[in-house]
Amino acid sequence: WLDRVQLLEEVVSTQEEAKKLAENGAPEGTSVRAEEQTGGRGRMGRKWHSPRGKGIWISIVLRPELPLSLTPQLTLLAGVAVCTAIREVTGVQAGIKWPNDLLAGGRKICGILLESSLREGGLHYCIAGIGIAVNLTEEDYPQELKSIGTSLLIEGGGIPVDRTVLTEAVLTELEYLYILYSEQGFKPIRELWESMSVTLGRQVCYNTPEGRCEALAVGLDDNGGLLLKDRTGAVMSVLSGEIEMI
Ligand code: BTN
Repeated sequence: WLDRVQLLEEVVSTQEEAKKLAENGAPEGTSVRAEEQTGGRGRMGRKWHSPRGKGIWISIVLRPELPLSLTPQLTLLAGVAVCTAIREVTGVQAGIKWPNDLLAGGRKICGILLESSLREGGLHYCIAGIGIAVNLTEEDYPQELKSIGTSLLIEGGGIPVDRTVLTEAVLTELEYLYILYSEQGFKPIRELWESMSVTLGRQVCYNTPEGRCEALAVGLDDNGGLLLKDRTGAVMSVLSGEIEMI
């Protein structure tokens, strides 16, 4: 996948650029990276702060043969790939908060947005969007994000990280895990995810239609949902949305 990266200067969102390529038949592993995004998107309709030259803002075309219900597994796979690459290249001990936020020093260092396109009722392609805060300083964050976001530069004691080297490590790891997944299924991915998780074993809060609930995160289910055990001992799984660790 390393020879399928397009590096652009400024885009609204690399998600849109990758979608155009996917619609035009781009092969799996094709990616678009940008120096700056003017309208970077996060999960749940949020904006993604993507200043010029400071991060890795990249979207990758995937064409998995999967039922739509299993795409959360791909989100977890992407989290494992980025976490592994970050640890290897920078030594920063990032961990994964379910489903796929990467945290370091308690703050967010990377976000992943997996978007699926459907055709004739089935999956047509997926776009895996990865945003890594690489060389942002505290000053690069707007006030409202300072307590939430960090960067590899900040967590690595002020040493800048080569974004090309890290991009290549992410793509290499992603391709490797994607092949492993297509050959061996979710089990090895789940085990890696569990070993890198900062969520398991923690008390978490989440929202349900009935209100806010508190439970212990105990594992992943077969689809990639988070298994939670409440005070009564009942176990349920949450497939999407957001949790807060308490
Ligand atoms: C999140 O944590 O909410 C997900 C953030 C995903 C950000 C990346 S940056 C590259 C790609 N382009 C976008 O507009 N979003 C994703």
